[in-house]
Amino acid sequence: MKPIKSLRGKLFFWYITSLITVTAFFYFAVHIYTLPYRNIFFTILLIFLALEGFFIVRKMTDGLSKLSSKIKTITSKNLNEKVTDIESEDEIGELAFSFNQLLDRLLQAFKRERQFIGDVAHELKTPLATQRSNIEIALTKERSNEEYKKVLAEVLSDNNRITTTLKNILDLAWSEAESAKVKKDIVNLSDVVSEIVEIATKLGLAKKVRVFGKVDDRIAILGSEDKLSRAFLNVVDNAIKYTPSGGSVRISLTKKNEQAKFQVKDTGVGITKADQPHIFERFYRGSRSGKVYGSGLGLSISQAIISAHKGTIEVKSDIGRGTTIITHLPLH
Ligand SMILES: Nc1ncnc2c1ncn2[C@@H]1O[C@H](COP(=O)(O)OP(=O)(O)O)[C@@H](O)[C@H]1O
Ligand SMILES: [Mg+2]
Repeated sequence: MKPIKSLRGKLFFWYITSLITVTAFFYFAVHIYTLPYRNIFFTILLIFLALEGFFIVRKMTDGLSKLSSKIKTITSKNLNEKVTDIESEDEIGELAFSFNQLLDRLLQAFKRERQFIGDVAHELKTPLATQRSNIEIALTKERSNEEYKKVLAEVLSDNNRITTTLKNILDLAWSEAESAKVKKDIVNLSDVVSEIVEIATKLGLAKKVRVFGKVDDRIAILGSEDKLSRAFLNVVDNAIKYTPSGGSVRISLTKKNEQAKFQVKDTGVGITKADQPHIFERFYRGSRSGKVYGSGLGLSISQAIISAHKGTIEVKSDIGRGTTIITHLPLH
């Protein structure tokens, strides 16, 4: 017979065998054979059953108190510690196992946050430092108006960079913190994308990149218009940024299998196979992003927003031929 592993089974087994033993004792020892010393035998039997029950319950509570004292010692600093002294294969063992998994998940989350703060600091440090040295150099002696203007223009450009980065960071923080409770308005995606095609056409004009739009009517989903528009704009912005003059960008919104499909296809520089799995990570910039300005936050913001809307975003790309970003969102 397989030994019983679960505590519930053990307790139940103990309870039933106790009942049967006591009943059998009364039946045989008292009614049938009227044994001498039956009181003493009965007392011994009761003590034996009580002890067995005691050990089962103690084993149960032992595991629980070990677990509870371990939980009391866990803080953000020792998340890498594990509950190791509970090896039973019963419910308590399972609880310890789940607890260790929880610690693992928390540890990963804390690591990501720390990395994020480091990256943010790094991203802000450079423009702040150049801004500062520009000002310091300008102040070392009297300068002409022209020189002051030049310095102010540089300071302004660094300031813009800092502002954009901060805005991106706030967006990212929003998308990740609020993913569980996106405002559920009916969003007319057809309108949103038509507007984006207009913006893209203007952006493209400045760079001699042709923009084509194909937007199906009446496609609506539930969500936040602002955020979705931001998610799409980041993708379109990339397509134009990473496509050299003379190229083209095709934006389309269609309906497919109860889903809205938003696709942006460009004839730009492409993304290497090695970069592709990483482009949605925060602060990741592809090896071919070269001198094109960016902070590596755009696609991570898009992805966070799209998944907050229960959608998916994926990339297909060939070096030198172009990139396609495809987004699916559940229809309203
Ligand atoms: N359409 C595209 N064509 C080529 N590379 C792209 C495209 N979109 C994204 N990438 C690559 O993915 C990286 C991450 O994109 P993103 O998060 O928007 O950051 P950023 O544009 O600020 O660099 C970019 O640095 C770039 O290398
Ligand atoms: Mg970008």
